[in-house]
Amino acid sequence: VPAEPTVLLTYEPSHEHAAALRKAAPGARLVAAGDERTARRLMEGAEVVLGNRFFLQSLDAARRLRWMQSGSVGVDRLLREGGSRLDGVRLTCARGVYDDEVAEHALALVLALARGLHAARDDQRAERWLPRPLGSLAGRRTLVLGWGGVGRGIARRLAAFGAEVWAARRSQEGAPVRDGDALVFGPAGWRPLLPLVQVLVLALPATPETARLVGEEEIAQLPPDAVLVNVGRPDTLDQDGLLAALRRGRLAGAGLDVLEEEPPPPGSAVWTEPRLLLTPHVARSREAPPRRWEPLFAENLRRYAAGEPLLNEVDKSRGY
Ligand SMILES: NC(=O)c1ccc[n+]([C@@H]2O[C@H](COP(=O)([O-])OP(=O)(O)OC[C@H]3O[C@@H](n4cnc5c(N)ncnc54)[C@H](OP(=O)(O)O)[C@@H]3O)[C@@H](O)[C@H]2O)c1
Repeated sequence: VPAEPTVLLTYEPSHEHAAALRKAAPGARLVAAGDERTARRLMEGAEVVLGNRFFLQSLDAARRLRWMQSGSVGVDRLLREGGSRLDGVRLTCARGVYDDEVAEHALALVLALARGLHAARDDQRAERWLPRPLGSLAGRRTLVLGWGGVGRGIARRLAAFGAEVWAARRSQEGAPVRDGDALVFGPAGWRPLLPLVQVLVLALPATPETARLVGEEEIAQLPPDAVLVNVGRPDTLDQDGLLAALRRGRLAGAGLDVLEEEPPPPGSAVWTEPRLLLTPHVARSREAPPRRWEPLFAENLRRYAAGEPLLNEVDKSRGY
């Protein structure tokens, strides 16, 4: 680590945050870019970049880049579009920063679907008084794909409503193990459960292995009154397959916070399918300063300057 690394912030730091960064790395030179042109100019001398804004647009100008700290959890787009330009560049993500609100959002979607709020709102707009048969989460069999901070947060909340919780992760080998609120299966072990799963929640990163992990075949195995929610990455679900299943009345409903195309094009079936509840990628809401990732950025900069292991380092070969 050179004595005076240049640290490029792709956002305007508050007074307090800039002070915390200076304290974390007293020898560093902090520069901030508020627009793409400035980012490109400053990128040339930057050893460290904090924040995603303008990053991909200015990456070509990088000459000394060693570490990039993302403000997002998912780094699939960075890896895909950064390509070989990120060789030799360490990448850290914002894992853990948004767990609570993303898990809350997933539960909000699950509850809305289970209690028919999406349909009730449509009925209200149509001045239609239509009691529908609804179920309770208590005792329901639920499966959470992804056992990171988001998946665990969802499991904790489902368990609090009395649901039975199964989960799946990549690194689990052999027999399922009880871990906190869930019985956790390996990357293939969850498949035989599908005919029993009444609530399926996806909280997965987008990697080559998770691409369309839940497709038409998997959806077809769910009970007809199941609900499906995705707050992870759109690539992990076959969206057209889901829509086809919903149109055939194959599921009670689905909730999507992430879509293949955001926003969806005019006329897309996702706008009008009554069993589909959409939210515009807000599980992690857009925030004003102070931003929730500020403490992580400062702590990781301190670690970088001290030569200590960084938090949330992405394993590029795994893709998350
Ligand atoms: N909608 C939003 O606004 C929003 C906000 C934040 C995050 N997200 C998305 O939510 C995803 C999850 O976030 P997180 O913080 O929980 O991520 P994380 O800590 O990286 O956890 C990812 C989990 O997925 C598991 N996994 C990976 N590949 C798998 C496979 N092939 N089969 C089964 N499980 C697999 C991992 O298994 P191991 O534990 O074995 O590694 C891990 O448990 C992120 O990738 C992010 O893109 C969305």
